[in-house]
Amino acid sequence: MTAPVTVVTFEHRAGITVVDAVPGQNLMTLAVRAGVPGVRAECGGSAACATCHMYVDEDYLASVAEPDATEDEMLDEAWEPRRPNSRLGCQVEVVADTAQIAVVVAEGAA
Ligand code: FES
Repeated sequence: MTAPVTVVTFEHRAGITVVDAVPGQNLMTLAVRAGVPGVRAECGGSAACATCHMYVDEDYLASVAEPDATEDEMLDEAWEPRRPNSRLGCQVEVVADTAQIAVVVAEGAA
C-alpha cells in the first residue's frame, strides 16, 4: 500500500515546479531535489542561513507548528522581506492528509 501523495507547488522566478511529496519530507529538500531556482539551502537544513526562505500557503501553516526561536531569528535575518507566512523551507515538513501545499520561493518573489 502506498502513502497518499501531497502535491507541492513551488512558484519561483522561472515559473512553477510541481512535485509529489510524502509526510515527513521538508519543503527545502523537495525544492532542492526538484531543482527549484532560488533555494540555495547553504546550511544544509539546520536553520542557520535563511537561503531556503519561502512564503507558505497560510491554510497549510495552520496545520503545522509555529517557527521555533531559532527559525524566528533567522527569518528576521532573511534577505527578502519577512511576511506573516514566511518560513524556512527546511523547517516545514509535509504532514499527513494534506492534498496540496502552495509555496512561493522568496528569492525573486514580487
Ligand atoms: S537550508 Fe539553511 S536555513 Fe534552511
